[in-house]
Amino acid sequence: MQLIDGKSVSEKVLKECSAEIEKLGAYGKVPGLAVVLVGNDPASKAYVGSKVRTCEKLGVYSLKIELAEQTTQEELLKVIDELNQDPKIHGILVQSPPPVHIDESAVILRIKPEKDVDGFHPENVAKLTLEDSSGFVPCTPLGCLRLLQEYKIETNGANVVVVGRSMIVGKSMALLLMSNNSSGNSTVTVAHSRTKNLESVCARADIIVVAVGRAHFLDDKHISEGTVVIDVGINRVEDKSSKKGYKLVGDVDFDSVVDKCKAITPVPGGVGPMTISMLISNTIEACKRTI
Ligand code: GUN
Repeated sequence: MQLIDGKSVSEKVLKECSAEIEKLGAYGKVPGLAVVLVGNDPASKAYVGSKVRTCEKLGVYSLKIELAEQTTQEELLKVIDELNQDPKIHGILVQSPPPVHIDESAVILRIKPEKDVDGFHPENVAKLTLEDSSGFVPCTPLGCLRLLQEYKIETNGANVVVVGRSMIVGKSMALLLMSNNSSGNSTVTVAHSRTKNLESVCARADIIVVAVGRAHFLDDKHISEGTVVIDVGINRVEDKSSKKGYKLVGDVDFDSVVDKCKAITPVPGGVGPMTISMLISNTIEACKRTI
């Protein structure tokens, strides 16, 4: 069994990013990222803080915009309009999910596609579907793909089961893995909450990518001997023995499957750190495209 160390791969990606940032400096360019958070969700706050700290460490200009829970749709759209016009900002990210009174699709639609480093804008979704590399690909699936590449896990011809059909992860992951190139070429099955006989669907997978947001959704009943497991879930579960009162676990019951797997991402320290490094990488790409 091989533990897929997302932290060390993430550090490698950030090193590559540093080199790119230095090159951009020669053109008088500093990549800039705006991170917008509406409301007080503690997990979202933690993610946003982590994104901004990584920017600061690397010398990426960052703007953290924290808006009150009761911010209106119009106020938020006005902030997006300003960021769209700001030449120092190359990437705009609105942390998801926003409060329920905000129409997230309308907000994403307002972000200029060339600044949509999350890859959520319909233009970027279309480009991913069309295998047009001039768009942006969502950071988490991009991070999963990079982990597979770093650990030389063959996707060509592989049977991949993606569990979860969100736009942020499941659908984008499926599109990337089925695409007609050497980091794709997989036979992809997308399973979800209505899938019948999930156990037998998962049983034929060479690679399983899980992103359902439910603690321990998959266990040893779903995983066959020699499967590669990429666990995207980050779930807080009560843990009275920890100072915070909770611990983070994935969508996979790690302990029950670890001995069967060929390779597996831990939670934390697997996919999580990759999302941030791919976000920085996309922001650098957005900056380069302005030259
Ligand atoms: N919430 C969970 N993952 C993400 C992400 O990749 N981007 C944004 N904007 N929000 C998220």
